[in-house]
Amino acid sequence: MKRILVTGASKGIGFETVLALCRQGCSVLALSRDATGLSRLQDAVRAEQGEGRLATFQSDLLQLDTIPLLNWVNEEGRLDAVVNNAGLLISKPFSELTPADWQESFSVNLFGAVSLIQTLLPFLKQSAPAHIVNIGSMGGFQGSSKFPGLSAYSASKAALANLTECLAEEFKIWRIAVNCLALGAVQTEMLETAFPGYQAPLKKEEMGGFVAWFALNGGQVFNGKILPVSVSTP
Ligand SMILES: NC(=O)c1ccc[n+]([C@@H]2O[C@H](COP(=O)([O-])OP(=O)(O)OC[C@H]3O[C@@H](n4cnc5c(N)ncnc54)[C@H](OP(=O)(O)O)[C@@H]3O)[C@@H](O)[C@H]2O)c1
Repeated sequence: MKRILVTGASKGIGFETVLALCRQGCSVLALSRDATGLSRLQDAVRAEQGEGRLATFQSDLLQLDTIPLLNWVNEEGRLDAVVNNAGLLISKPFSELTPADWQESFSVNLFGAVSLIQTLLPFLKQSAPAHIVNIGSMGGFQGSSKFPGLSAYSASKAALANLTECLAEEFKIWRIAVNCLALGAVQTEMLETAFPGYQAPLKKEEMGGFVAWFALNGGQVFNGKILPVSVSTP
């Protein structure tokens, strides 16, 4: 049984990723701020009556109490993968973005992943081969189409992609693979905020299924890669 931690699991792609991992018999720790979303996730996993196990942890990634996290990992005895999926999108023209907007975007999209990886690194080393999956965006992918209003979001995702390459190099001696999935449009609340009325070609269930598959299998064949996972622009 694989042990996997997923952030941003109360809704959207993270929710579906956790569901797909549990469906495949994994033991998952799902982290988010919204208790109602996490309890809906518990209900969905229970309804499927599969072999997977779900523990939820209600917390803001930016004020993370690491003790419950570390307790979970200690009880499970290993940690095979971490999916840094939690994300924040502030859609505003560049001239209106405040320092607080920039701070918040980088805090959730980059620093949240940084501190979580630092906290979990000793366990990932013990569990090797292990896999860190950073959920990036096509907005942060070099040379991709860019859209007005998304500079803070896209720049923070570009930083996450770069971090991925750096950590892959640094962690390869411990057999911890680090990859970034640069997602294209998926129908979620976040997409509706960024592109009101736009109909994405992918459902969150489809992308969640892919992210779960990649977390389990991608580390064997990719390391340090920023992979565009997109069928459309945006
Ligand atoms: N949908 C798309 O088209 C698309 C495209 C490219 C990339 N992505 C990326 O895919 C990931 C998932 O996006 P989504 O579309 O599923 O978005 P979503 O529906 O808005 O979900 C975002 C998730 O992140 C969590 N989150 C946000 N801030 C958090 C914080 N401070 N602490 C803990 N959790 C936090 C939210 O949970 P709580 O509010 O409960 O904390 C929520 O579960 C994001 O990283 C996003 O940037 C999405």
